[in-house]
Amino acid sequence: MSVYDIVLRRRSIRCFKKKKVPFSILKKLVNAARLAPSGANIQPCEFIAVNDQATVNKIFPALKWAGYIRPQGDPPKGREPRAYIVVLINRDKRPLCPEADAAACVENILLVAWGYGIASCWLGAIDKNRLGRVLRCPAHCEVKYVVALGYPDERPQVETARGSIKYYKDKKSTLRVPKRSLKEILHRNIYR
Ligand SMILES: Cc1cc2nc3c(=O)[nH]c(=O)nc-3n(C[C@H](O)[C@H](O)[C@H](O)COP(=O)(O)O)c2cc1C
Repeated sequence: MSVYDIVLRRRSIRCFKKKKVPFSILKKLVNAARLAPSGANIQPCEFIAVNDQATVNKIFPALKWAGYIRPQGDPPKGREPRAYIVVLINRDKRPLCPEADAAACVENILLVAWGYGIASCWLGAIDKNRLGRVLRCPAHCEVKYVVALGYPDERPQVETARGSIKYYKDKKSTLRVPKRSLKEILHRNIYR
């Protein structure tokens, strides 16, 4: 798959197969994150990669899923994520643009994961204090994002947004994700 195809086919996945994600792959994902662009090359992000089932189980209750369609969009019982990468900001590094740095790391993780057939969901709606305690994060490391990972057990479909951008589940329980059209967002040479 070309990088472009990976970008086109990646979707946020919230239903996963009961199959462990090898730690060797998580290591590659963190390596991809490590090499992401970073404002002033400060590299404030650190990562906790989790595939041990006991810890995976402890992370799940700290996450909130698919806000527009709660609780319908929650991972069904038995189809929860099988691994996580928790993205931390090390405040001791005095980051210039921590939000953008973390986002660049996350996007690398999502795309490289999909290249290995591993699906993901980027989570920002998280109980950061609870997660910090579970993972024993030191005070100078702030939990920023969580990437949920696993082998996909749903196939969301992109459609062109006509008005609402809210994702929804159709009659067959397929997640439909409206995206603004290229025509609407691309301006050639000047804004028109
Ligand atoms: C910064 C950020 C935070 C997000 N937080 C959550 C979240 O807490 N829970 C969730 O289920 N999805 C979360 N998402 C995923 C979005 O809902 C998803 O990207 C969007 O619906 C578009 O779907 P797509 O990723 O398949 O293109 C987040 C995405 C981003 C970029």
